[in-house]
Amino acid sequence: MAEPSRREALDLFLFTSIAATGVAALSPLPFFLAPPLSPAARASAGLRTSLGSGQGKSLIYGGRPAIVVRRGDEILAFDATCTHAGCPVEWSPEKKEFLCPCHKGRFGADGAPAGGPVRKPLARLPVALSPAGEIWVGE
Ligand code: FES
Repeated sequence: MAEPSRREALDLFLFTSIAATGVAALSPLPFFLAPPLSPAARASAGLRTSLGSGQGKSLIYGGRPAIVVRRGDEILAFDATCTHAGCPVEWSPEKKEFLCPCHKGRFGADGAPAGGPVRKPLARLPVALSPAGEIWVGE
């Protein structure tokens, strides 16, 4: 095998340098073309049979606190962020209300303001039941 000439070695070096520069320049391209990462599109609240009427279950949906409440056969889901100043609310199965510990705000089981300084209802979240009876919050 013959030794490459000086000219061939320089051509090879030049080609390799250009190719490496091109690969390095284009390597971030997939990050710009890929869709942005989004929070979980759905979150499971467990089986419907595990949630008795009047009970609630806390979960995280889209990185935010959420609560699923069962009223008879109806299952409702809410963003658990108080609309007054953003504290997380809790479901009280005894009072059948959402209670905010920060300023004693209260929301009814339908998320409507029921007392304290709150004026806007809790945000409703989409909820669906799978054929297997699993409660899903989200689209
Ligand atoms: S933050 Fe909930 S009542 Fe003020």
